[in-house]
Amino acid sequence: MNPLFKTIIEPFRIKSVEPITFTTREERVTKLAAAGYNPFLLRAEDVIIDLLTDSGTGAMSKYQWAGMMRGDESYAGADSFYRFEAAVRDITGLKHIIPTHQGRAAERILFGSVLKAGDIVPNNTHFDTTRANIEAQGAIALDLPVAEGRQPALRAPFKGNIDLEALAKCLAENPGKVPLAMITITNNSGGGQPVALANIRGAREICRRHGVPLFLDCCRFAENAWFIKQREEGMADLTPIEIARAMFACADGATMSAKKDGMSNIGGFLALNDEAWTETAKNNLILTEGFPTYGGLAGYDLEALAVGFYEALNEDYLRYRIRSIEYLGEVLTKAGVPIVQPTGGHAVYIDAKAMLPHIPVHEFPAWSLACALYIEGGIRGVEIGSVMFGRQPDGSEKPAAMELVRLAFPRRVYTQSHVDYLGEVILHVNRQRETIRGLRFAHAPKVLRHFTARFEPVGA
Ligand code: F0G
Repeated sequence: MNPLFKTIIEPFRIKSVEPITFTTREERVTKLAAAGYNPFLLRAEDVIIDLLTDSGTGAMSKYQWAGMMRGDESYAGADSFYRFEAAVRDITGLKHIIPTHQGRAAERILFGSVLKAGDIVPNNTHFDTTRANIEAQGAIALDLPVAEGRQPALRAPFKGNIDLEALAKCLAENPGKVPLAMITITNNSGGGQPVALANIRGAREICRRHGVPLFLDCCRFAENAWFIKQREEGMADLTPIEIARAMFACADGATMSAKKDGMSNIGGFLALNDEAWTETAKNNLILTEGFPTYGGLAGYDLEALAVGFYEALNEDYLRYRIRSIEYLGEVLTKAGVPIVQPTGGHAVYIDAKAMLPHIPVHEFPAWSLACALYIEGGIRGVEIGSVMFGRQPDGSEKPAAMELVRLAFPRRVYTQSHVDYLGEVILHVNRQRETIRGLRFAHAPKVLRHFTARFEPVGA
C-alpha cells in the first residue's frame, strides 16, 4: 500500500454475495424468546450481523475454489492429501500430519491416545472443547494464564502468555503426571490475546527440562504471528510465515482447527513428531474419522486448506483483519464501553461485568448482554463467561474468571459499513444498559451446556 494514504481497504473484491435478511426489533424479541434466550438456537437468517464465531464462517478465495476443482477423492493416497500435508509441513516443520474434520476431533484423538485418568494438561487457557476432551479422559485441564491476562482493562502486548513460573512449578510437582503441555495461540478464551515468541520459547525450555512435550493449539497461528511481528522486539523484519515457523519450531506437536486460519469452512489436523503417539493416533483416527489420508474430509476440502494456510499469512490480509477489529475497539473505548484491552486477533470482547454491574454473576451478565445486542441490532455474539465455564467437573458451580461477550469476526466477510453499524448498535445498548435484566436457567444440560441451554429473564 502507498504510505501516502492512510485508509486500510479490504484487500479483496466481492464476486458472490450473500443477502442479509433484515428483521425488526419486535420480530427479534419474539424469535429470541422462542429460542429460549439462547443465541445458539436462533436461525441464522434471523441474524443481521453474525459474530457468533470466526470458525468456518469465512469467505474462500477464487484460488481456493479453483483448487477444489482438482480435489482427488481417492479413498487412500489422494493427491489432495499430499498437497495438504506439504503445506502443513512447510509451515509447521512437524513430521506426521493427520487431517481431521475439525479441531476438536484432533483434540479427542490426541487426548484419547495419550491421557489417562488423573493426568494433568497445563495450557495458557484451554478452549471449551479442549477442556471437555481432556476431562472426558478423566484428566485435569489446568489453566495457567499470566496474571495480566485476567485483567480486561489492562493494556499489555502479550496478555495471552502462559505463566512460565506456574508451568515450571506444575511440572516439578507432578512428575510422570503431565503427558504434554499446551499453549493456545492466540488465547481465545482469554480475549484473543497473542502469545510472545519469547514466551513459547520459555515454555519450550521448561518442558524440555522435564521431558514433557509441548503442543500448540494453533487455530489462529497466523494472527498470533502478526502480533509478534508488530509487538515483539526484533521481529518487525520477519515475514508472518517466518514467525510461524519459529513458533512451531518450539513445538513437538499441534492441534489445529483449520476453520480459523485455514481460511476454510471445515477442516483441522493433528501434527506430531513422536512415532509411537502417531501410530496410536492414526488407529484412533480410523475408528471414527477415516483413513489417515483424508481424516473425515473430502479431497476438495484438503485442497482449499492447502491454499488457505498461506492466504492466512498474507500481510495485506492480516493488516486489514487486525485493523477492522482494532477499529471497532476504538469506537467502543472512546464511548466508554469496557472491552478487553487491547483488542485481540479475531474478536472484540466486551467486559459485561464492568458494563452491567447491576447484574450479579449468577444471573449471567455476559449472556444477558448478548441477548440485548441481538434484540436491539440483530447482532449475534457469544458469552464467554459463567454459562460456558461455570459448571465444574464435579457438578458444582464456580464463577468464570471473566464475564465477556465475544464478537468474533468471520474472515473476509464483513466490510467497513458493517463495522460502523456494529459500533452504533453497541453504543445504543450501552446508553440503556441499566434496563438490561439478568437470566436464569430454564434447562441446563450437563456437558457444554451453552450450546443447548434454555433461559428465562429474571423477574419475568
Ligand atoms: N481450540 C481453540 C482455541 C478454538 O478456538 C476452537 C474452536 C477449537 C480448539 C476447536 O475447534 O471448533 O474446529 O472443533 N473455536 C470456535 C470458536 C468454535 O468459536 O472460538 P473446532
